[in-house]
Amino acid sequence: MAVSADFQDFVDEVLERNDITEVISEYAKLKRVGSRYAALCPLHNDKKSPSLSISPDKQLFHCFGCGAGGNVIHFIMAMEHLDFMDALKYLADRARIPMPEQGSSTDRKRREETMDKKQKIYQINAEAARYFYRHLAGDEGKDAYAYLKERGITNATIKMFGLGYAPAGWTRLLDYLKEKGYSEHDVFEAGLAKARDNGSFYDAFYDGRVMFPIINVQGNIIGFGGRIMQENSNTGKYLNTPETLVFKKKENLFGLNLAKNSKAGRMLLMEGYMDVISLHQAGINNAIASLGTAFTPEQARLLKKYTSKAVLCYDADDAGKKAALRAGDILTEQGFKTKVLTITDGKDPDEFIKTKGPEMFQVLVEGARPLIGYKIDAIKQHYDLNDTEQMLEFTEAAAGVLSEINNEIELELYTKQIAKEAGISPDTLSTQVKVLRRKQQQVKERQEERKERKNFEERTGGRRDLHEMGLKNAERLLLNFMAEEPAVMKKVKESGLTAEDFTEGIHRKLAEKLLACPDDRVDGNALLEQFSPEEIGVVAAILLDDKNTENKKEASIQPLAKVLDAKQRIKQAELLTNDDLHELDKMLKQKEQEKRRNQTWKTKNNPQ
Ligand code: UTP
Ligand code: MN
Repeated sequence: MAVSADFQDFVDEVLERNDITEVISEYAKLKRVGSRYAALCPLHNDKKSPSLSISPDKQLFHCFGCGAGGNVIHFIMAMEHLDFMDALKYLADRARIPMPEQGSSTDRKRREETMDKKQKIYQINAEAARYFYRHLAGDEGKDAYAYLKERGITNATIKMFGLGYAPAGWTRLLDYLKEKGYSEHDVFEAGLAKARDNGSFYDAFYDGRVMFPIINVQGNIIGFGGRIMQENSNTGKYLNTPETLVFKKKENLFGLNLAKNSKAGRMLLMEGYMDVISLHQAGINNAIASLGTAFTPEQARLLKKYTSKAVLCYDADDAGKKAALRAGDILTEQGFKTKVLTITDGKDPDEFIKTKGPEMFQVLVEGARPLIGYKIDAIKQHYDLNDTEQMLEFTEAAAGVLSEINNEIELELYTKQIAKEAGISPDTLSTQVKVLRRKQQQVKERQEERKERKNFEERTGGRRDLHEMGLKNAERLLLNFMAEEPAVMKKVKESGLTAEDFTEGIHRKLAEKLLACPDDRVDGNALLEQFSPEEIGVVAAILLDDKNTENKKEASIQPLAKVLDAKQRIKQAELLTNDDLHELDKMLKQKEQEKRRNQTWKTKNNPQ
């Protein structure tokens, strides 16, 4: 990366003025462990065993659970889903450092290009939305308009949601947008056109659909949902914009642009666009829905910016119940207080509100069951509680649900309640829950271990065999010492070891960068900049893990010997298994002497 010296100074200042422990402590509770800090990693669902490690000295972090790592900029990139420049800006703001007039020209250009591209897609979408809106009011939109009327949608609601109609035809929208100065490729990138194999384009919504603009919290139209009016087996009822630079199904919520201003203090999460629209029309302004996929952790995180209370209002069918349970778990994981509402009349909130009205819907909301209670009720239905054996099975299943509760008071209350119903002592049930929790913890730890190993192997292209792992660890430790201790770097150079002698790709690259550092001294941040975001996690892990070694020079002898041994550079390296730097020194010197003797002998005996 070619960066100007000024820009580098700026980056350095941002790093200096944003202490990594301070920044991470804004997202996680840190615990001091020796010279490090440990925390439950806020970048993944790390609930019980802290897997994030931070070194205040090195200003680096690494999570052995999810593999993320790097400096404070990399942390913010991962945490706030920002690219490098935006993370830099975020941290500059945090430390009240003004952004320099110009960043790296290539970086800036790339960023501006992306921004321009996004802006262009927003413009195209806005233009398309106006086109659809006009067509709903026009001749061609008569049926669509009648359809919406039949479903009880008022003109005010059509306006509030910007509903429209995409008339049938292969290039109607394309032609219109081309007239407005956009290229077919632009429209394609916005997700409003599809490409044929022969390179020609056609409208993504070509078969006459009622259009629902999907608007992000910033108020930009990011995509569309299109509903066919007569359901048939040839095509899905709804068609959505495909994933584009701005339309990420998993990261946005329908209606949140409106619901974010609600004063209700909680969000009502439902399944369908029409549910959201009906509720807003009825004056219930905190309804939102996911975009044609199951609710995701990303959506939960987005929602968390506005509230930490959610009520699940999913469809009344079995699929809806299952989806509600899954969404409930995701919300709980993200720290939401979650309730589940049961639709009593009609198949979904839209139908309910039309037949029963908004007041009755509010009654349902007030009567929504807390997720745990809902789960227990759901289980209870499967057992006949008058039958002792089935009662036993029920308590076992209920203990399973109880074991998921993190809040101790909540746990106690539910434990008491269930114990009472089952006619057993709360202590017995409580013991059962504890056993389950321990088992779950063990399973989780094993899963995480496996994940960590897989992560590591994937990133390094490593193999499983034990000897290899031993060598791999030796290489990592040696690289760590090289970065830390100029004397080790010197030693390594003297030993004749080169970057190529390391067995892992990423180790080779790191060794190469380290060996190229002038005066054997390593500038950690300059070093990190030479690695891609995918590589930084591993590099940070290597730079952080010095196995609490005090004397690195002395400790380097083992890993160095191992790496040398592997390369068979020194045949006798097998002898070097105990920590004796002098031994290695002596041997290297002997080698040197031998070499020199040989050379003198050669020159003596082969005079030119
Ligand atoms: P529903 O079938 O419950 O839709 O699907 P709905 O909103 O109640 O639609 P109406 O009342 O029949 O008009 C829930 C959501 O799943 C997605 C849409 O986001 C829809 O709002 N979906 C559904 C699709 O993406 N494609 C489909 O074919 C069907
Ligand atoms: Mn519906």
